[in-house]
Amino acid sequence: MEKHETVRQVVTCRVCERDDWQDVVSFGPVPLANQFLPQADSYDERFYPLGVRSCRSCRLMSLTHVVDPKILFRDYLYVTPDSEMITRHMRYVVDVCRERFEMPHDGLVVEFGSNTGRQLMAFRDTGMRTVGVDPARNLAAVAMADGIETVPEFFSAEAAASIKADHGPARLVLGRHVFAHADDIAEIAAGARELLSPQGVLAIEVPYALDLLEKTSFDTIYHEHLSYLTVGTLVTFFERHGLRVVDVERLAVHGGSILVFVGHADGPWPVRPIVDELLETEQRAGMHLDATYEGFARNVAEIQAELPALLRGLVAQGKRIAGYGAPAKGNTILNVCGIGLDELEFCIDTTDLKQGKVLPGTHVPVHPPEYAKEHAPDFYLLLAWNYAEEIIGKESAFRDAGGRFILPIPEPVIL
Ligand code: TMP
Ligand code: ZN
Repeated sequence: MEKHETVRQVVTCRVCERDDWQDVVSFGPVPLANQFLPQADSYDERFYPLGVRSCRSCRLMSLTHVVDPKILFRDYLYVTPDSEMITRHMRYVVDVCRERFEMPHDGLVVEFGSNTGRQLMAFRDTGMRTVGVDPARNLAAVAMADGIETVPEFFSAEAAASIKADHGPARLVLGRHVFAHADDIAEIAAGARELLSPQGVLAIEVPYALDLLEKTSFDTIYHEHLSYLTVGTLVTFFERHGLRVVDVERLAVHGGSILVFVGHADGPWPVRPIVDELLETEQRAGMHLDATYEGFARNVAEIQAELPALLRGLVAQGKRIAGYGAPAKGNTILNVCGIGLDELEFCIDTTDLKQGKVLPGTHVPVHPPEYAKEHAPDFYLLLAWNYAEEIIGKESAFRDAGGRFILPIPEPVIL
């Protein structure tokens, strides 16, 4: 990115370096999904183009525009939520990595995008040595205070070399929901190659493009998520960088994700059958065909029409609606569907850093969950729909009192 340039159009595919794109969706200018604003009389926000295109050669789905990562990630509001589902998932990641790849109990784990260090604490509990890497200085400081050594930088070959000099080679380099946020993914591959021991494994967790298309979960599209990935695209990518996809887990977390394990191309880990199975699944789903992405765009347009109509119908009947959760992806839904203060009175969210602020673009206020005790709405729009089971389970009092949830995705319904 040029000096002073805060946004640039994507021209060359970051996986295969070609430039034959199919334009899929274009949402126009949208504010940044994690740019929650302090309450004010008027707001001065920047809007950036938001859209997705698909590379006809490797089928990477990429944002059409990249915003300078320093604007997005230096001071970061997303804190891993204190959710049972996430805690369970983190333990699962520890077990899978250790058991499948025979990690020694005092082996080194380096996590990039380590946030407040919760995942690394789960590794530390087993005795493994840990180092975090995260450019969000506010979050790195939180992790450090909890005793998780954290390098406050973007992961790169240079950062990897410096960690290796201090701690030796890593048995695991982990990136959960961060690889898809990076423009220069070749730098991540170089960092992993540098840092991993010969038996070392790079594990990345990314939202799965197959789930995105099958569930029309277009709300995962926001400026932080540059890439929407299939196993096929990742196999192509890592092959180009001297690495090899050896195993994949399909996960329910964040609306459908894959945990992809990558070894050195000449490393000891055989390629498990699941890799070919998922390549076949992707072929059968038509992930290589323009028509599949055209169908996705039609489904998105339907939600864009139906969801605001549903909410406006309820408001016209005098019903009060609030948002449940204020996730970044909820801001895509609201901004892209033209839903705002006319439909939503407020959102509740458990994240301290979001409470008392307003949502980007729509300026809907965010309150702590306790606020809803006095101001319970008739309906909650379940913006944090990826935690639906957990949330609906704990909100039985709201439901018993006649409250209802509205699920926005895969198609708007009242539960
Ligand atoms: P995420 O899907 O990106 O993890 O964001 C989920 C958001 O929803 C996050 O801001 C925390 C919030 N949340 C609640 O407010 N209540 C809940 O019970 C859960 C699970 C999440
Ligand atoms: Zn490509």
